[in-house]
Amino acid sequence: MRSDSPNDSRIIESWHQNADSWTTAVRDHQIESRNLVTNGAVVEAVLDRRPGTVLDIGCGEGWLARALHAHGIDVLGVDVVPQLVERAAAAGGGRFEVASYEQIGRGALKVRVDVAVANFSLIGKESVDALVANLPSLLNRGGALVIQTLHPVVAAGEQGYEDGWREGSWLGFSDAFSNPAPWYFRRIETWVRLLVRNGFRIADILEPMHPISNEPASIVFVSKMPG
Ligand SMILES: C[S@@+](CC[C@H](N)C(=O)[O-])C[C@H]1O[C@@H](n2cnc3c(N)ncnc32)[C@H](O)[C@@H]1O
Repeated sequence: MRSDSPNDSRIIESWHQNADSWTTAVRDHQIESRNLVTNGAVVEAVLDRRPGTVLDIGCGEGWLARALHAHGIDVLGVDVVPQLVERAAAAGGGRFEVASYEQIGRGALKVRVDVAVANFSLIGKESVDALVANLPSLLNRGGALVIQTLHPVVAAGEQGYEDGWREGSWLGFSDAFSNPAPWYFRRIETWVRLLVRNGFRIADILEPMHPISNEPASIVFVSKMPG
C-alpha cells in the first residue's frame, strides 16, 4: 500500500521494515516515557469518555487495544502493516484489520465507534489530513477523538516552531531499527485547526509531565463531535 505523497509513502515503507523491532521495543517495555507517562495518559483519556466501542488507529502490535479490552471495551485496531496486525491478532484482546489512513480517508472503513484513538500514530501530512476528515463519519453522535502525539513545543528542534516535514531518527531506540521515515511537524494551533475544520470541538488538551525531564512527555488532544 502506498500514498500519493512521497513522504507519506516513506512512512509506510519504514513501518513495514521496522515491524519486528517495534514489537520487541513495545513488548519488552524499552521506551521509558511510555512506561512512566504516556501509556497511562492515553488509557485514562479514553476511559474518561466511558466508551463501549473504540477504534485504535495505527494500532501497531496492539498493546492499547489489549489494555482497553481489559476494561470490557470492544476494540477494533487498524494498521497499514500486515505483520503488526498479525502480531496484534495473535495476542488477542480485540479485532484487528489491515487498513491505511489513505483508505480510511477514502471511506473504506465501515464502522461506528464511541471513541477513536491514535497513540503516536499520526505521523504524516496528506494521509493524516485525509484520515481526520473522514473520522466524523466513523463516530457515534457525541463521540470523541483522542490523539496523543509528541508535544510540538518540546519536539520543535532546530527547525523552530514551524509546520513542515522533518527528518526522522531512531535516536534512543535499539540498533535493530533502520530507515527512519520523515514526519510532519504541526504546531499546536495547526492540530487544533485540523480538528475544528473537520467539525470537532476541543474538549480538553492534556500535557502529561515526564517526572525526570520535567517537560511534557506528550500532548493529548481530546475532541468531540456534537452530541
Ligand atoms: C509509533 S507506532 C504507534 C503504534 C501504536 N499506536 C502504539 O501506541 O504502540 C505508529 C504506527 O502507525 C502506523 N501507521 C503509520 N502510517 C500509517 C498509515 N498511513 N496508515 C495506517 N497506519 C499507519 C504504523 O504502521 C505504526 O504501527
